[in-house]
Amino acid sequence: MFLYKDILKDESKDHDILRQKSEDVVFPLSDEDKNTLFQMNEYLRLGYDEDFAKKNDIRPGVGIAAPQIGVLKKMFVIMAYDENGDFHNYIIINPKIISHSEEKTYLESGEGCLSVESPHRGYIHRHKRIKAKCYLYDIESDTVTPATISLKNYLAVVFQHEYDHLFGVLFFDHIDKINPFYIPENSTPVKFE
Ligand code: NI
Repeated sequence: MFLYKDILKDESKDHDILRQKSEDVVFPLSDEDKNTLFQMNEYLRLGYDEDFAKKNDIRPGVGIAAPQIGVLKKMFVIMAYDENGDFHNYIIINPKIISHSEEKTYLESGEGCLSVESPHRGYIHRHKRIKAKCYLYDIESDTVTPATISLKNYLAVVFQHEYDHLFGVLFFDHIDKINPFYIPENSTPVKFE
């Protein structure tokens, strides 16, 4: 099990790793890769257990990417409730965004990241809808399935945030330096129920 302290932070010596590009995962999955996926999923799962999280230094998150634990491979996990309150859990390998809307969306609260401790205020405008090819890993059955997934609104934001990690990009890179709260005409906020 790993804890918040084990997650690489952008203002520490870990900075270099977080800024590097990840490599494709090779199939069949190695035991080491399976363990990385399991541990990332477990971290997010335990974050939803408030008491456990408090006692064990788990800062809750809705997504985590392998580079954040020092593994430069294209893998990330999403565990989040969307804007309608529906729960989603994706364990994603070798993703590639193949199309996206021109329409943008953003979180009015801004974005956060387990690897970023200092506040960075401002809006990040992301594609409102994306379609991605990837492989989905299922822990219980220990199987990998190729998939094409379509995501919108909050889930699309989370996906693009995690996807960025695979290219060494952090969320605040996208914030407009001169006008951090600038809203382009084609961007609307994610509306939570
Ligand atoms: Ni992040």
